[in-house]
Amino acid sequence: MRIVVTGSGGQVGGALLASLAGLGEIVALDRARLNLADDDAIRTALRELQPALIINAAAYTAVDAAESDAATAFRINADAPRVLAEEAERLGAPLIHYSTDYVFDGSKDGAWLEDDVPAPLSVYGRSKLAGEQAIAAVGGVHLILRCSWVYGLTGKNFLLTMLKLADTRDALSIVDDQIGAPTWSRTIADATAGIIRHASEPAQLAAHTGVYHLCAGGQTSWFGFAQAIFAHPAVTRRPALHPIATAEYPTPATRPANSRLNTDKFRRTFGDLPAWGDALAECLQLRGELNMKA
Ligand SMILES: NC(=O)c1ccc[n+]([C@@H]2O[C@H](COP(=O)([O-])OP(=O)(O)OC[C@H]3O[C@@H](n4cnc5c(N)ncnc54)[C@H](OP(=O)(O)O)[C@@H]3O)[C@@H](O)[C@H]2O)c1
Repeated sequence: MRIVVTGSGGQVGGALLASLAGLGEIVALDRARLNLADDDAIRTALRELQPALIINAAAYTAVDAAESDAATAFRINADAPRVLAEEAERLGAPLIHYSTDYVFDGSKDGAWLEDDVPAPLSVYGRSKLAGEQAIAAVGGVHLILRCSWVYGLTGKNFLLTMLKLADTRDALSIVDDQIGAPTWSRTIADATAGIIRHASEPAQLAAHTGVYHLCAGGQTSWFGFAQAIFAHPAVTRRPALHPIATAEYPTPATRPANSRLNTDKFRRTFGDLPAWGDALAECLQLRGELNMKA
């Protein structure tokens, strides 16, 4: 089975290459091999490769930059997924695509369900929602996996930002009134591999077409996430941490206050997901081991 992974240079894309090993022939398309801003290039690549399954891990993820670059955000997050979905349907190949908690406005008290009404607060959120809708409108077999607060040992993310800041700062002020579930890129990649294993052949994914919430278990704030990072024994620098309100840390894009995603549907269908603290501990342990080897 040939599986095409777009955005293979990203956090989730890179993790997928490891998690999918053994599941088929993995064709990794990073931005240099396939620019999703080029519809014709997408069509040509997929018609040549004829994959049995397409996983789109590429996205325009610069949430604040998107506020002043809506055209690019929509091109990559909405137009390209539509083209991928059209080509997937043409090939009879399921499309697995990632979306975000930022499709919601954060106003709900409890965790967001898949069929809660989205109302994005940012250009990024609107572009990702448009991507979801475009894929659904094409009507082929698709799984849209909404993730939250993704981090890992590569790329741009909160974990690496905290560790870098701790090199030069003795104190950090961190937003404490946005809640969600920090999710290791490996958790998402392993869960995606689990979906593929669950279906003995890609066509069986037709029964699972739809939207799923996929993030680690539990919840915390960005402040709580930072506390857990600096409490880990493998992290040696420990700056003082001060909780602040979102209003004290203005950003171009508005983020939802409540990013909690209810993952019951995913767990019922495909199996369990780790608690965010356990996954973070494993990730930091791995970082420590990699640093020792380096
Ligand atoms: N990061 C989060 O906190 C978060 C939260 C919720 C959901 N998600 C979703 O999860 C998925 C994976 O995100 P991630 O965290 O892995 O993001 P990421 O690390 O930013 O990776 C995205 C990848 O897409 C590539 N890309 C951007 N524009 C492209 C283009 N025109 N053509 C081809 N590739 C392009 C990027 O390449 P360059 O590096 O060259 O730009 C990057 O390798 C996305 O759908 C994202 O919306 C992420």
